Amino acid sequence: MNILSIETSCDETAVALLACKGDPRDHTFSFDIIGNALHSQIASHEQFGGVVPMLAKREHAKNLIPLFLKAIKQLDTKEEGRAEHVDLAHIFGRETDFLNEFIEKIATLPRPNIDAIAVTEGPGLEPALWMGIIFAKALSATFDIPLIPVNHMEGHILSVLPRPIVFPALALLISGGHTELVLMNEWNAYKVIGQTRDDAVGEAFDKVARMLDLPYPGGPQISKLADIARTTQTSTPEYILPRPMIHSKDFDFSFSGIKTAVLYGIKEQREAGTETAKEVVAREFEDAVTEVLISKTFRAIDEHNIKTLIIGGGVISNTHIQQEFTKMAASYPGLTLLLPDPDLRTDNALMIGIAGYVKYLISPQSSVDETPDLKARGNLRVGSK
Ligand code: KG4
Ligand code: ZN
Repeated sequence: MNILSIETSCDETAVALLACKGDPRDHTFSFDIIGNALHSQIASHEQFGGVVPMLAKREHAKNLIPLFLKAIKQLDTKEEGRAEHVDLAHIFGRETDFLNEFIEKIATLPRPNIDAIAVTEGPGLEPALWMGIIFAKALSATFDIPLIPVNHMEGHILSVLPRPIVFPALALLISGGHTELVLMNEWNAYKVIGQTRDDAVGEAFDKVARMLDLPYPGGPQISKLADIARTTQTSTPEYILPRPMIHSKDFDFSFSGIKTAVLYGIKEQREAGTETAKEVVAREFEDAVTEVLISKTFRAIDEHNIKTLIIGGGVISNTHIQQEFTKMAASYPGLTLLLPDPDLRTDNALMIGIAGYVKYLISPQSSVDETPDLKARGNLRVGSK
């Protein structure tokens, strides 16, 4: 089954084409990548110190068509002639400026050999999501291809396929927008058992980086400094940050307290003229975040008798967090830790295609969106219908 997938929830525009087969329930699932095109907008947002939704929307509009054409380049075409003429302007109203160019382009194309289109419906930035959705709707209407709305977070979780996921499974999702623990007792059944009450982990990394005058996105910068402090064994024993909620009975997180402690520390020390080295701050911050993540996650693993731990989202690129989780997981016999391949950790369209296929395979009726009113759902929850 050929699945075209589209991801525009934040600052990555991504289109992929996967040939999927088999079934993850009996471990026969596999996929081949026919096309994979991605454009990161980091350079455009950098000067603003974060993602600007309307700018992201404009960039998606500009990039979707070339990325789509690139993704389908290697695809055989179907013999059944050209696109039907569909009055897209009538369907999409005021978005037609963007679609006009697209309509002209696809009117010249033979019908692509695509069986379904998977598109991220949320969560994310609504103006950004909406561009991907109308693009997917236009393609679906033109070529009469079924449309599968996909939850972005479910994409992150299933990005570890085709490696076997044994239930009960737990996913720790850590990115710039999310920090969640999601329990999975079976396919297509997700339950959020813990989440951040304030900042997401990646957001905390980015904010602390800004306090230390490091460029955006700050996560990798902090990580680099912390690694330097570890290899040179630089530390300042009296510089200690809090580990918020580490002993609380629930599985929720809070990171804004750590960030505020860094801020006050910097202020006080600047006044006193005793500044702690950036490397030391970075290391202690990373240690504090890692300890909280490990403590909550492994308590959930104990309580729910977890067999597979999946960690997804951009923050898992952090080597210290990775090493600590790997060490801890090794001490749990019967637990398998699955990390996505590097290309699938940050936002991408491959994971949306995989999740769309699995959703369709397991519940074909409910997965296809038959209504013309698919909307961007910025606050879509994992596991919600
Ligand atoms: O998943 P992602 O690419 O985008 C979303 O937020 O959805 O995650 C981006 C986040 C940013 O906050 C970035 O600073 C963080 O992941 N990040 C890291 C590292 N690499 C990326 N945080 C800590 N250490 C890293 N090495
Ligand atoms: Zn993401």
